[in-house]
Amino acid sequence: MRHFLDLHKVPADDLRAILNQAVETKTARAGQGKGACDADAPLTDRVVALVFEKPSTRTRVSFDLGVRQMGGETVVLSGSEMHLGKSESVADTARVLSRFVDMIMIRTFEDATLLEMAEYATVPVINGLTDASHPCQIMADVMTFEEHRGPIAGKTVAWLGDGNNMCASFLHAAGQLGFDLTFGGPEVMDPDPAAVEFARSKGRNVRIERDAAQAVAGADLVVTDTWMSMHDAAEAREKRHALLQPYQVNAALMAQAKPDTLFMHCLPAHRGEEVTDEVMDGPQSVIFDEAENRLHAQKAIMRWCVEG
Ligand code: CP
Repeated sequence: MRHFLDLHKVPADDLRAILNQAVETKTARAGQGKGACDADAPLTDRVVALVFEKPSTRTRVSFDLGVRQMGGETVVLSGSEMHLGKSESVADTARVLSRFVDMIMIRTFEDATLLEMAEYATVPVINGLTDASHPCQIMADVMTFEEHRGPIAGKTVAWLGDGNNMCASFLHAAGQLGFDLTFGGPEVMDPDPAAVEFARSKGRNVRIERDAAQAVAGADLVVTDTWMSMHDAAEAREKRHALLQPYQVNAALMAQAKPDTLFMHCLPAHRGEEVTDEVMDGPQSVIFDEAENRLHAQKAIMRWCVEG
């Protein structure tokens, strides 16, 4: 049985195979309606539980649609309406869900919840975001970069702002898929040291910059994320914004990168805060390809899980 929990926990060859599969399936579907089933329907007679303890637009729709395109069905569950971790342990929830469904995708707060779910489930578990990582998103991001610019190996990604869960998964991907990463942000928001160490242990160059212009210089891809992640306390907003303002991705900052540097944001974005409209809607932005590729990348992830 294969769980998809984090990018540094899946063999690098398997990540590459998943990306290849995602491109193959996307290509094969070209011209078909969004509701059309894939030719081999690998999830026929299977049910996937989609568990959300946090809000979601992209993850929810892309997993739900993806399962249907693969011939399966979903049960969408809201954490607030479940016993999960409150009146029933995560372990027992995992055991019970495993009797009803063939796969579990969970978006939750603490990584420990995901790990407990995976430990006690007898079906594959997929990480749909925790406070610590967001591996499905970064698979879609790598797929999107490669669609536009070819292999990501040997390239440099500049991450601007908060060294959050997205940044950690980008560092895992850097180590696994062979690209370098420069973090540009305030010291108090430096990325997870373990994720930095993982990328460096694989021979990747990870730079920590305090100057935003230095961070994007020479980058092939500039990425940022909201300044208030779903787990950040509302009262921290003013302080965080003040610290992060110098790292706003705007046209002046993009001009410090290369003319063909791409821009990505996992969305939802707070236009005018971490990124300006000019960049979001500009020619270097591939944010909506990135959003669409959640569907294709996650279908390949689910296929990898069930084929295991
Ligand atoms: N990027 C992302 O995970 O989007 P949602 O929060 O809408 O799922």
